[in-house]
Amino acid sequence: MIKERGSGKVILFGEHFVVYGVPGIAAGIDRGVEVSVKESSEDKIVGEWNTEGTRKAVDAIKKKMGIEGHIEIGVKEEIPTKAGLGASAAFSVGLTKAVAKLFNKKIEEEEVFSTSLEAEKIYHGNPSGIDNAAATYGGLIKFIKGKGIERLDIGKELNIVVSFTGKKGSTKELVEGVKKVKERNEGVFEKLLSSYVELYKEGENALKQGNIEKIGELMNINHGLLSAIGVSTKENEEVAHIAREEGALGSKITGAGGGGCNIALVRDESEAGELAHKLERRGFRSFPARIGG
Ligand code: MEV
Repeated sequence: MIKERGSGKVILFGEHFVVYGVPGIAAGIDRGVEVSVKESSEDKIVGEWNTEGTRKAVDAIKKKMGIEGHIEIGVKEEIPTKAGLGASAAFSVGLTKAVAKLFNKKIEEEEVFSTSLEAEKIYHGNPSGIDNAAATYGGLIKFIKGKGIERLDIGKELNIVVSFTGKKGSTKELVEGVKKVKERNEGVFEKLLSSYVELYKEGENALKQGNIEKIGELMNINHGLLSAIGVSTKENEEVAHIAREEGALGSKITGAGGGGCNIALVRDESEAGELAHKLERRGFRSFPARIGG
């Protein structure tokens, strides 16, 4: 039995906007999805992941890798699915690495990324690839659709709190919804996109300078832009407001929204623990995480 993992991810800046070719910043987190594989007489997925989508995703990965043998797959997730933390990409990355090991294929990170992206296309239709990049490379990365990644070395870790709003969202539907908002409001959307690009530039500088107050403020503005394009629910707003009232430097949706998860930026590990606790008491499953570093 071979076991491999893909990291879950958070997006600090740029979900949805990255679909339109502008840069975003994402980070791998400690929690992810562990995939185990063994050879079998037929392809088999054990447990809740045995869905039509996953069966097609497995076929896509095997096809891309030129694998004809059959496998039995087990999945253990440490993050909620359909909640903006990149569980499907983490699964696809874990599976690609595990299959490569099982069939003695040497595979570079770039190929893990491109292979797992074939599966993500089945799950999400038109993915930018940002989730797969974070699940493959981990760390803090700058991502541009179709252009690969750049590692961002900011010299220190950022402390965040990840909170699940309790509501699951469909990335595919949310991305399609944003496309419709764009089509109905081309001029306005262009302006929002260029505001985001300005925000991104300032965010990248603030990260390099370690200016966490500025990063927090820009996260709040990024959240506002996500509300403007229609992907924030009342749960996302509630979590963002509670986190800010409780002293977070910034709080925003992470991932596709429509519920899913929010992240909040705090100053240090002890603040992260306290805030996670407070959000839990308000009914939102939360955990502290460190990104970058
Ligand atoms: C999902 O984690 C991020 C989105 O921008 C979709 C994508 O980039 O593929 C909403």
